[in-house]
Amino acid sequence: MQNILVTGGAGFIGSNFIKYILKNYNYKIFNYDKLTYAGNLENLTDIEDNANYKFIKGDICELENVKKVLTDNNIDTIINFAAESHVDRSILGSREFIVTNVLGTQTLLDIFKDLKLEKYLQVSTDEVYGSLPEDRKELKFTEQNPIKTNSPYSASKASADLLCNSYFHTHKLPILITRCSNNYGPYQFPEKLIPLMIAKALDGEKLPVYGDGKNVRDWLYVDDHCSAICEVLHKGKIGEVYNIGGNNEWYNIDIVKLILKTLKKSEEQILYVKDRPGHDRRYAIDSSKIQNELGWKPAYDFEHGIESTIKWYIENESWWRKVMSGEYLKYYEKNYASKVK
Ligand code: NAD
Ligand code: TYD
Repeated sequence: MQNILVTGGAGFIGSNFIKYILKNYNYKIFNYDKLTYAGNLENLTDIEDNANYKFIKGDICELENVKKVLTDNNIDTIINFAAESHVDRSILGSREFIVTNVLGTQTLLDIFKDLKLEKYLQVSTDEVYGSLPEDRKELKFTEQNPIKTNSPYSASKASADLLCNSYFHTHKLPILITRCSNNYGPYQFPEKLIPLMIAKALDGEKLPVYGDGKNVRDWLYVDDHCSAICEVLHKGKIGEVYNIGGNNEWYNIDIVKLILKTLKKSEEQILYVKDRPGHDRRYAIDSSKIQNELGWKPAYDFEHGIESTIKWYIENESWWRKVMSGEYLKYYEKNYASKVK
């Protein structure tokens, strides 16, 4: 393995991953990204001159373009981060999710097959497993859990996973799948819970909490996701799925209160709004497989991770202000106008 195509590398996790892998390994990284609303090359300014890094603008659905990029650059490995990633957007309209997440993955798999490359890793999500009951804390998602999707986003990601599995079985391709819980950290687009709430708190605005705020998510610092992907890439058993998580369940409302407290803001800023349709109640990952078989474990505890994340958003206000202007504002109005009770 020498030359790696990272798709979606201008997004939140992809950009953190590129920095992580350049720092810790000696690969040549080709970042192939369409630069949708979520793709931001400012996430990568500190490494853009690195001799082992190259950005190429493009869509994973464009077969000929992807093929040319792979052959021109002697690429042997694909890590597919590229996706439409926000559940709320998938509720407002799911077409882009099917196009990029399903057809885009299928396009990459076909090219991977034709070119007989070395390894393909699909970055997936715990959301493919559906929702866990709130009152049965002993239950967590294992790799054996059936796929049971509830949002168009998770349905599109699950479809991609099933395609990957089918290409492994039918075409005997060297494919791996990772399924991670909710990530947080620097450069996360402020449409997702943690950065949105930090931005709203700093601006003295209302913080929109869906439903009763008692939905549970299992939070992992983004660098821990990146280290886990590297472990799976290097040591994972071909054809297998690896769950990644931090054993760190939080009620949404407690995260929101923690952010307000850290920023010394009043809980009066909290605004309960109409629930997200089909809102999954609880996610919790059992990551014992990757821990026991590959020796991975998270390096960050939540207390320090969230503190440094909040600090990062305070110190990088110009980054999120720029991101929150324009197209994003239009989306914000569309999503929240119908939710205010
Ligand atoms: P993101 O929305 O921040 O970034 C997605 C990136 O993909 C953007 O740079 C965008 O420009 C690019 N992209 C979109 N469509 C494309 C296309 N057709 N061709 C090429 N590039 C395209 O997403 P993220 O939060 O960084 O998530 C990355 C991956 O990790 C996704 O596959 C997501 O499903 C998965 N994941 C995310 C989380 C999380 O908490 N954010 C958790 C588990 C798994
Ligand atoms: P999100 O960051 O969108 O991730 P996901 O839906 O993929 O888990 O949302 C995390 C949780 O926060 C989820 O239960 C929905 C909730 N949420 C709110 O309560 N208010 C908001 O404005 C947003 C964006 C999310």
